[in-house]
Amino acid sequence: MVILVTGAGGSAAGGVVDGLVEARQQVRVLLRRDTGRSWPSGVQVVFGDLRDPVAVRSALDGVERVFLLIAEDGGAGFAEAARGLPLERVVLLSSKAVEEFGGLDNPLYRKHLLGEQVVGALGVSWTFLRPGGLASNALRWSGSIRAEGVVRALFPQLAAPLLDPADLAEVAVRALLDPGHEGRTYTLTGPEIITVREQVEVLREETGQEIRFEEIAEEQAPAVLGPSLPPGFIEVYVPVQKQYLKTTPAVLPTYSEITGKTGRTFREWARRHVDAFR
Ligand SMILES: NC(=O)c1ccc[n+]([C@@H]2O[C@H](COP(=O)([O-])OP(=O)(O)OC[C@H]3O[C@@H](n4cnc5c(N)ncnc54)[C@H](OP(=O)(O)O)[C@@H]3O)[C@@H](O)[C@H]2O)c1
Repeated sequence: MVILVTGAGGSAAGGVVDGLVEARQQVRVLLRRDTGRSWPSGVQVVFGDLRDPVAVRSALDGVERVFLLIAEDGGAGFAEAARGLPLERVVLLSSKAVEEFGGLDNPLYRKHLLGEQVVGALGVSWTFLRPGGLASNALRWSGSIRAEGVVRALFPQLAAPLLDPADLAEVAVRALLDPGHEGRTYTLTGPEIITVREQVEVLREETGQEIRFEEIAEEQAPAVLGPSLPPGFIEVYVPVQKQYLKTTPAVLPTYSEITGKTGRTFREWARRHVDAFR
């Protein structure tokens, strides 16, 4: 069985490849550029953009199961490429944001809703993964930490149950390989609630280097945070952060229910990624 992993260069999907290789599966990764990462032996690497149905069709040749990231086109290119192919199963990386901010007129949120609709209409068995904020978002601070030893952010008290991408990857691997996940939607969080200021403190302790925290004003957000956020995100970033400030974050048991384990903490994530901040 060949399993295609899309978005494999990213923090969420990279671990899916490792988990599938460990489970001795035949894996093909779809990348849109060569990141220089070396892949385990036996992994096939193909190049193409998820919005390009011709490239995706070629990547899907002989594939039975797919770990799918939703591109900016809301999965339209993938759907066109997959039409008529004998796919067995698609595990879709969606977002908890569809439950929280689905109505916002922003492409980053809308694409997840569209992606779920598109995959649901494909006529193949599907599982939707809806992670909340990922621990790996702290990598957005790596540039300013390395250059100036500082994290600049809004709202130091903002708290969230950050999910380790490795936990997300484990759930994805289970959904790709095991029975019983078909037609299920899994909303996923990490095991503990941590504030922005606490994340910085953990990074300081784990890297062993001084890291200052600078709270920025809302008006500074586009200039200071815009460059490290995905295109188009800064326009809703401040209202979304303010909305999160008003909600009480909750830890969900989904990861433990599926894997039988306790989720990884932000500190565990930071410990594995200290080099990115040095
Ligand atoms: N970060 C979060 O807190 C969070 C929370 C919930 C859901 N999500 C969702 O999870 C997904 C991945 O997020 P992430 O934080 O892991 O992002 P990431 O680290 O930037 O990874 C995204 C990966 O997908 C690839 N990619 C993007 N568009 C593509 C396209 N059109 N064709 C082929 N490859 C493409 C990127 O390739 P390049 O390296 O070439 O750009 C990158 O390797 C996104 O859909 C995001 O909305 C993220």
